[in-house]
Amino acid sequence: MAAERSASTRLIAWHKRHGRHDLPWQGTRDAYRIWLSEIMLQQTQVGTVIPYYKNFLKKFPNVNALAAAPLDAVLTLWSGLGYYSRARNLHKAADLIVERHGGVMPNDPEAVQELPGIGRSTAAAICVFAYGGRHAILDGNVKRVLARYCGVHGYPGETKVQRKLWQHAEALLPPRSGIVAYTQGLMDLGASLCSRSKPQCASCPLGADCVAHLSGLTEILPGKKPRAALPQRETVMLLMRNAGEILLEKREAKGIWGGLWSLPEVSHAREVSAAAKRHGATVLASKTLPTLAHSFTHFKLNIEPLLLDVKKSTARVPKVIWLSMEDAVRAALPTPVRKLIVSYCFK
Ligand code: ADE
Repeated sequence: MAAERSASTRLIAWHKRHGRHDLPWQGTRDAYRIWLSEIMLQQTQVGTVIPYYKNFLKKFPNVNALAAAPLDAVLTLWSGLGYYSRARNLHKAADLIVERHGGVMPNDPEAVQELPGIGRSTAAAICVFAYGGRHAILDGNVKRVLARYCGVHGYPGETKVQRKLWQHAEALLPPRSGIVAYTQGLMDLGASLCSRSKPQCASCPLGADCVAHLSGLTEILPGKKPRAALPQRETVMLLMRNAGEILLEKREAKGIWGGLWSLPEVSHAREVSAAAKRHGATVLASKTLPTLAHSFTHFKLNIEPLLLDVKKSTARVPKVIWLSMEDAVRAALPTPVRKLIVSYCFK
């Protein structure tokens, strides 16, 4: 059953009871302070931000003080917070606010977004908290909340997914009052109950009609960043058999499968005879086996196995042994090599 009250009404009520109310940038309508907090909070957790925020305001209590300061003094106060382009942009934006806006942060997200370091969501948050404007936000946490609540699939870093999330963010805004509590509630929900893993859906004010919760999709929403396709390598492996034995070769100590016993490899089937010779064998019969795909963390390997019946010379070849099939599968082999021997060498 869907909840009877709208999502925004429930979120506002939840924020009143369970949200954060004592953060140093709450309870002010000073756009400078709100702007500073939003910039610091862009890539940094609340707990880390608080002492930096207080310290910064002591030194630069308003936009004029910030604009008049040398960049070095700003960077010094930012030291340890990381992502220093935030501090450089803050300083540049302070200058622009003084020069172009008479020292007052504009009351319009479009104009705020023109300032360096301020994107669409931060501009909206500033205009909500400073001026009570009715604007949608969509920071990282809010993307997670909305992807789940509205059942938006796909990676939120993708433009088309982001476009959908913005549409939902706009549509869910409270129609009249409560924009500040709503916006803070959305942020607080994303920072608490609606966590990346193990969200606490039973306590969530949006649980009754949350698509992800109702359909068991909280684990897969929001979608993960698609992984780049792994590079593909090819190899031909030689299963050389003689009198019930198979030839194994010790691999070099370094590299994948370093030091393991494996099968001789060539990069192309035309090199097979020469390779057999090097291993002290002459090919009598050859059969192509089905390709075996094996995945490593950084690449995929397609193995083309060739089953060869060979004649053995008496010459001793270094790093090579002949083993019975039973002994071979007990040796230190890479998994796909063991699979090949098990599948094709026992009759
Ligand atoms: N993250 C971004 N903006 C925030 C705010 N105003 N309060 C708490 N966390 C935030």
